[in-house]
Amino acid sequence: MKIVSILGSPKKKGNTGTVLSLFEDKVKKKHEVERIHITQYKVGGCLGCYKCGEKKDEPGCVQKDDALTIFEKMMQADAIVYASPLYCWSFTAQMKPLIDRHVCLVSGYGTPDHDSLISGKLTALLVTCAGPIEENCDAIQSIYTGLSAYTKTVPKGNFILPFCTAPEDMGDEAGALAANLAGAITG
Ligand SMILES: Cc1cc2nc3c(=O)[nH]c(=O)nc-3n(C[C@H](O)[C@H](O)[C@H](O)COP(=O)(O)O)c2cc1C
Repeated sequence: MKIVSILGSPKKKGNTGTVLSLFEDKVKKKHEVERIHITQYKVGGCLGCYKCGEKKDEPGCVQKDDALTIFEKMMQADAIVYASPLYCWSFTAQMKPLIDRHVCLVSGYGTPDHDSLISGKLTALLVTCAGPIEENCDAIQSIYTGLSAYTKTVPKGNFILPFCTAPEDMGDEAGALAANLAGAITG
């Protein structure tokens, strides 16, 4: 199985990167994992031109930036993990342009012909945050649910580590969450 993990934190070795590494270490022995650290890629915000709608078989975006490289990797993968710290109840600003640009993967939304270039792929949401899950992580989970339906992907679960302080202070919960995520994606 080919897995693409997308890290949306500005920090490579922060809380989210640390839990994501625990997940990757668990699946690496049997599966291929490629990590995309979003800050290493140049992804512009969607221009809202809808030119992509004219092409069904490729992401026909007019912006020829790194979003297309990332989408190519996602299209070749079997599973995609969206990993982000919670920033103001949502994805980070670094991750948001990529989420918006998913528009160019989808065709026929709202019609019987609704389809996507990543349709059928397994996905999961991984979030770390400083506060609780309740009344804090609603928006990000709702965005992920909407994105899954929009892209016709198969959501395998929301994996959230609350009350994070620093990577070195993470307890057993981090490893358990990573193991659950690995089981959901590869099991
Ligand atoms: C700009 C900013 C906004 C944040 N907003 C929230 C928030 O809304 N809720 C929350 O629980 N934590 C919030 N946090 C804390 C981070 O989600 C938390 O520290 C996370 O684990 C950081 O992950 P990282 O080390 O991978 O970047 C925020 C942190 C920053 C810097």
